[in-house]
Amino acid sequence: MSAVAPPAVDPAAAEEMAQEAAAWCALHGLVVGDRANPRSATVPGVGLVHAPFSLLPARLPEHFWRQACELAPIFNELVDRVSLDGDFLQDSLSKTRQVDDFTSRLLEIHRKMMETNKKENIRLGLHRSDYMLDSETRSLLQIELNTISASFPGLGSLVSELHRTLINHYGHFLSLEPKRVPGNAASSKFAEALAKAWAEFNVDSAVVMMIIQPEERNMYDQYWLTKHLKITHGITTIRKTLSQVEAEGKVLPDGTLLVDNKQVAVVYYRAGYTPNDYPSEAEWSARLLIEQSSAVKCPSISYHLVGTKKIQQELAKPNVLERFLENKEDIAKLRKCFAGLWSLDDEEIIKTAIEKPELFVLKPQREGGGNNIYGLDLRETLTILQKEGGDARAAYILMQRIFPEASLAYLVRDGISHEGLVISELGIYGAYLRNKDKVVINDQCGYLMRTKVSSSDEGGVAAGFAVLDSLYLTDKVILHLSTFSAISFN
Ligand SMILES: Nc1ncnc2c1ncn2[C@@H]1O[C@H](COP(=O)(O)OP(=O)(O)O)[C@@H](O)[C@H]1O
Ligand SMILES: [Mg+2]
Repeated sequence: MSAVAPPAVDPAAAEEMAQEAAAWCALHGLVVGDRANPRSATVPGVGLVHAPFSLLPARLPEHFWRQACELAPIFNELVDRVSLDGDFLQDSLSKTRQVDDFTSRLLEIHRKMMETNKKENIRLGLHRSDYMLDSETRSLLQIELNTISASFPGLGSLVSELHRTLINHYGHFLSLEPKRVPGNAASSKFAEALAKAWAEFNVDSAVVMMIIQPEERNMYDQYWLTKHLKITHGITTIRKTLSQVEAEGKVLPDGTLLVDNKQVAVVYYRAGYTPNDYPSEAEWSARLLIEQSSAVKCPSISYHLVGTKKIQQELAKPNVLERFLENKEDIAKLRKCFAGLWSLDDEEIIKTAIEKPELFVLKPQREGGGNNIYGLDLRETLTILQKEGGDARAAYILMQRIFPEASLAYLVRDGISHEGLVISELGIYGAYLRNKDKVVINDQCGYLMRTKVSSSDEGGVAAGFAVLDSLYLTDKVILHLSTFSAISFN
């Protein structure tokens, strides 16, 4: 990592910008529920606070941006192809299921669908592929591919608008051009993909059902999609928890899913990705019920499993991509963004990781942030797993640690801006919609930049580690904007 010069930032000016930005957030719906108010997670419109954001966008050389965008449709297609190979999913996860109850329950639903030969004609994927720019190799490497509940299409789009607005107001002093912040239509494009899936389903009176957690402080990100669905496409969204689906839902003999007596065309999961979302058997019954129905699931159980970390690691093995894709150039592009990934069957790599834990990340089969193991904890966990031997290792994968270049930036949280050394993670949204042989959508759909202090290992915004950010496309340098701009405009 390179040494970073202190920023030539006038703190009073940054403070003024931060206030203007926070007011903009309130005026434009760039908001989340406030942790300090317990009702903010259940009652819309109560206890709002601006979403945490970075004052200025993160710089990214344009060719990396293009590379990441180009990958989106290839990953979309890959997910679809892999999802059709039920045996591959079952076999790859067979050892994991022995030691991980959550994966085992998902696989059980998947196996039931295989046994009844259930086929999904209409398949909708709303994905986000996350990357970091490795400073040593200067390459864009994938962190993970999210196939369920990829969050922030709603708020992420707004951050790009916020940054353009700030640059419009202050760019003159900052020597920045708003047009270098790429437009971000994640929100409307995701809504459009949901609407097109609804149209393929072809029942005018049917609704979109969003599966939500009982408490959700990130509900406004979700309401942005609901709004686009209604205003642009005239489609009604209902919000239900898995336990409500269990209580109010049924599947008719012809596969029709009725919830609260409304027919559901598309089920869009913004919950269901963590064991916490299944506190009792009721939630598992609901998941199975939905899967058995003819409604379009975003994601289906197969798409969900394709996004697991174990499958990411399996796909990175030699000759595995070739099983699913024909185009050699596409395969080469995907492989170029794969970081080192290993299963814990590999004794050699375990030995190396115990010796140099700082070069690796140990990941269990979990989503949503806060689960990865780093540094001395990684060494200790691997040492114990190695001693114990046996199956417990199958619960984890090992990944090469990526080191993005750090820079100084102002992060604004709860109305207060903090200057810190930060690193960023780029997410590219992708939508895929297919009805039998007809591919209706296979597109890149905007982006999400998340920035966090470089000393934090984890990255989630909702989990409290990172802030929302956008992009400033440059020719080469990779630093955050405030590191090179003298922000002084009084
Ligand atoms: N290989 C890696 N190198 C560096 N940081 C990583 C790596 N993998 C994950 N991280 C950090 O940990 C965070 C969470 O990991 P991720 O694989 O995205 O799991 P989750 O499903 O919990 O989001 C990422 O957002 C990123 O900040
Ligand atoms: Mg992640």
